[in-house]
Parts: sequence; C-alpha cells; structure tokens
Amino acid sequence: MSTESTCHLAGILEIFASNSIFKQYEIMFKDSFKFYKAKWPIPDFSDVLDFNDNTTKGIVEFGLDVDSIYEAVMPGLKPVYSWKCYEITDRPGLIFIRNPFTPQGQRYWMTRCVRDYPKRPNVVNLNAKLFPQTVIDDWWSCYQNCSDKDDKRRMKVAMRWTTLGYHHDWDSKHYSERMKNKFPDDLAQLSEYFSKALRLGKYSAEAAIVNYYPIGTTLAGHTDHSESDLEAPLFSFSFGQTAIFLIGGTTKEEKPSALFLRSGDVVVMAKQSRLCYHAVPRVMKANIENWNEFPIKRDVPLEPPNPKKLKCDIDLPTTDDWQLDTKLFENCADENFWSPFRQFVNDSRININVRQVLKEGQESL
Ligand code: SIN
Repeated sequence: MSTESTCHLAGILEIFASNSIFKQYEIMFKDSFKFYKAKWPIPDFSDVLDFNDNTTKGIVEFGLDVDSIYEAVMPGLKPVYSWKCYEITDRPGLIFIRNPFTPQGQRYWMTRCVRDYPKRPNVVNLNAKLFPQTVIDDWWSCYQNCSDKDDKRRMKVAMRWTTLGYHHDWDSKHYSERMKNKFPDDLAQLSEYFSKALRLGKYSAEAAIVNYYPIGTTLAGHTDHSESDLEAPLFSFSFGQTAIFLIGGTTKEEKPSALFLRSGDVVVMAKQSRLCYHAVPRVMKANIENWNEFPIKRDVPLEPPNPKKLKCDIDLPTTDDWQLDTKLFENCADENFWSPFRQFVNDSRININVRQVLKEGQESL
C-alpha cells in the first residue's frame, strides 16, 4: 500500500474512533472526492477501475445481442459487435462501454459541443455581467475571433456548461415547457442508437447538459432526479482529456467506486444506478490522444463475424437517415479544419449527459 493510501486509511480510522458509525459513513462520498481531487501529493490511483486493463478486478465484460444491429453502423461509431461492454460488480445497473467511437466520430461530437451547441437559443452558463451578449449568443465564434490572449483564456475557462432541449433550472432544479428548445437530431439519434444496441428499450432524448472541464476542474457529487421519468437511463459520453468518475449509492454515506473515463467512453446509468450519487473529482491529461490518431486505423474487421444471422427486428435507421451534419463529419478528417478544436481539447474534457425527461405517453410537463 502506498504512503498516500496509508495516510488516507489513518484519517478514516481517526474519524471512526471519534465519531458515531453513522457520521463515519456520512463522509464517505466526500472523502473519496477529496482524495482524488488532491493536487499534492498526487493520489494513488491503484483503486481506480481501469477498463483498458484486463487485470482489473470487479468488472465483468458482457456480450450484446447484436444480430439486428449489424447492418446499420452509425457514422463515427465502431460496429456494435466490436463494442467492449462492462458491468461493475458492486454497481448494478451501470454499464460502461469502452470507446465505441472512431477518431473521426470523436472529433465530430467534440466539434458539435464547442462550435454548435453553445449557441443561442441553447443556454450557457456565461454570466451577462462578465461577458457581452455576443459571447453568450455564440461563444465559439467570439472565442475564435478574440485576439487578446488574456481575454481568450478568460473566455475559455468561464465556459462550463451548455443545456439542450429542456433546459435544467439549477435553482429550482426543475424543467419547464417555458425553458425548452429543439433537441439536436444527431444527439437524439446517437442516444437512441445506444439504447437500442444495449436493449434498453425505446428512448427519447429530451434534455442534455454538455459539461466543459478545463484540466484541474471538478464536478461535485450529485444525483440527477429532476426528470419526470426516473426509469429511463442516462447516457454519458466523454471526450478529450481523462477524468476520474465516482459512482456511489443513493446516499452520500456509501463509499463510491472510482473509474477512469477516457475519450470516447460511454457510461449508462440505468436501473438501480440511475439515481446514484456521482461526481468528477479530477480531470487530467490523457496518456493517449486517440482522437488524433489519423487516418483511422481499422482495428476491427469490417464484416460482422456471422452475417448469416442478420435479422432486423428493431427499427434502425438506414444509412440515408443519419441525422449527422455530413459536411462537418467529413471536415473532421481534415487536420486544418480540426486544428482550433485540437487546441481547445488539448487541455479540456467534454462530457455530454443525455436524459429522457417525459414518461412514455406524456406529451409535456
Ligand atoms: C454529470 O454528471 O453531469 C457529468 C458527469 C461527467 O462529466 O462524467
């Protein structure tokens, strides 16, 4: 055990000795958060579940029933039969998919998140007392056109979130029909595709929060419970630099599991995990920038292993129905086009968090 872990354990034992058992557990989520957030000494990451390491204990790979989805590979994704899907033994309902995106696909979603989504009428966190309306209306264009180095830096670190579809009201913690805009078709289709591939049923993406994390920033522990439908899964897509993600229980008294989230990784909070506490205590530089591996290295066979088994029992779009911005998708393979986005993501992580708000059959709030 490392010195850091020993000190950590000693701290916990000290608290255990001086407080009631209840109080000792009460700090468990916060305690892990503080541990992984620490700048110095750098924490021991040996307990962080690493899905890139096949010796990691406590995770179980599972196969998908993918026959029906072979035909329709969504642009920017690897074929479903090649996806690596895992469950965590202690966290029922939570699904982890190890980067099912191609480098071009990752670039597409990162570009959507920084160039397009933070645009009026979508809502951004930027404070009207600190930034002119032009920045609030179209942050990326202003950021690109800004020639002052300090202003540019200020604009970058200030941008922390954009909301899409139903806009979450952070004060009331409610959604309303008054605060709603069209949900992006491409992101709705991506979420639906994952729901179908994972056999999680019909899914209607109606709200999303895009979080921007410059390296060193964090997101405190919380649950997502503002939606009318608390059964529909939550889809979380991570891009850019690496994070440590904590997933705990339904109270903060439970010690969370920590996992690495790397670019392209997908976390689905379904069933028992849907209402669990989660947080991001650390965002750090990725060891490998897989989104910059170009041209695409094909590491999976293009043909499905057993094409004879094809049957189409679910309604997947045909290749002509993809809702992606095809021009943008093509541009993402061009290094000149990609250059400003590459710079942005060089020290940032982006997370897209998608929710279904309405229950099946419910038409409005
Ligand atoms: C969130 O819970 O809203 C974001 C989680 C993440 O950044 O992975």
